[in-house]
Amino acid sequence: MNWETFSGRYKARDGINCQWRIARRPVGNVRPEDFEWTEEPIPVPKDGEVLLETMYLGLAPVMRMYMMGTDRTGDEHQRVGDVIRGRGVARVIESKNPDLPVGEIVQGAIGWQTYRVSSMTPAEKFFRVTTPDLPYSLAAGALGMNGLSAFAGFFICGEPKRGDVTVISGAAGGVGTMVVQMARIAGSRTIVGIAGGAEKCRFIKDLGCDEAIDYKSESVPQRLKELCPEGIDFYFDNVGGEILTACLENLAMNARIVLCGSISEYTRETPFGLTNYTRLRAVEGKMAGFFVYNHLHRWEEFTGQMADWIRAGKIKPVQDIVEGFESMPAALSRLFEGKNVGVQCCRVRPEPVRRKLFD
Ligand SMILES: NC(=O)c1ccc[n+]([C@@H]2O[C@H](COP(=O)([O-])OP(=O)(O)OC[C@H]3O[C@@H](n4cnc5c(N)ncnc54)[C@H](OP(=O)(O)O)[C@@H]3O)[C@@H](O)[C@H]2O)c1
Repeated sequence: MNWETFSGRYKARDGINCQWRIARRPVGNVRPEDFEWTEEPIPVPKDGEVLLETMYLGLAPVMRMYMMGTDRTGDEHQRVGDVIRGRGVARVIESKNPDLPVGEIVQGAIGWQTYRVSSMTPAEKFFRVTTPDLPYSLAAGALGMNGLSAFAGFFICGEPKRGDVTVISGAAGGVGTMVVQMARIAGSRTIVGIAGGAEKCRFIKDLGCDEAIDYKSESVPQRLKELCPEGIDFYFDNVGGEILTACLENLAMNARIVLCGSISEYTRETPFGLTNYTRLRAVEGKMAGFFVYNHLHRWEEFTGQMADWIRAGKIKPVQDIVEGFESMPAALSRLFEGKNVGVQCCRVRPEPVRRKLFD
């Protein structure tokens, strides 16, 4: 069954909590049969709780890991039958919590469902959206975990230096489009983006890359040698596998590699098995990973800085929005087919009319 036929079977509607659950563990990219649609009465908030109505949900490669029951968050693994974990933006529509009146917009761990009751405890990792002058959808992207991943990975873990030759893989994706623009802000001398296809390569050059490599039609090792003749100072890795291997072969002295993600490896049945990490030795390089949820204490600094960059036009958020909660499974599959440009998210409900101040 194709995605259009599958999504067309369902229709989310007001007054019912619609959910997407794990029907079975995916093999390779996700398929319609991996998802189950369920409907339940809207939950009722107790004292201290609020009822949230979902506006946007973000899509991320890690959600396939949740479906596999193999996420690396340290949280309890998801089981077949569970509502799929995920973050998004929601509006408070009923409140028994004096700190969060009806109409407040929050972002957090809503899950793949159209309503959710929350007690807003730190464990639920909800945050109030404090940028009402910007589209709320950004809280599921540049001003959400996607943006924090780019910010923490690039600036905190990567410690960029002015004049770096910076290479970014997955450069047309959610995190990648932000890192390209952050490298410009940080004063990289040359920014090389790697993405799949000529159209994406043109797009990332418009966004701020000096050069682009189409890994689907060009030899990445050869192009890296041509474009970075003095070696790579900073490699931001979103994909792992063969592209990480190629970057390790072309490092400058004291190079830094940030391991953000390895999407090229997520759907393989046998692990890729990196063998040339010892290249770091001769160049006294460093390769470090990071996990976005370990950086939540920087939330206010991050959202303040990111919002300023967006208002100043230094970061242009790139969002790829699909319409309707029914489209969530299809939207997840797009990530593994390279169909998304920028942050993939889903509009579950239109944004509410803004308060007078922002008319
Ligand atoms: N460390 C953390 O805490 C953290 C937090 C967030 C995200 N991540 C990771 O960071 C990476 C980027 O996340 P994102 O949410 O922004 O996703 P994303 O980059 O938008 O992911 C989708 C893109 O990945 C590329 N892709 C898919 N299969 C590929 C393959 N086999 N080889 C190379 N590229 C492939 C495709 O672009 P092309 O068309 O260019 O192939 C696709 O459009 C992911 O690996 C994610 O798991 C890590």
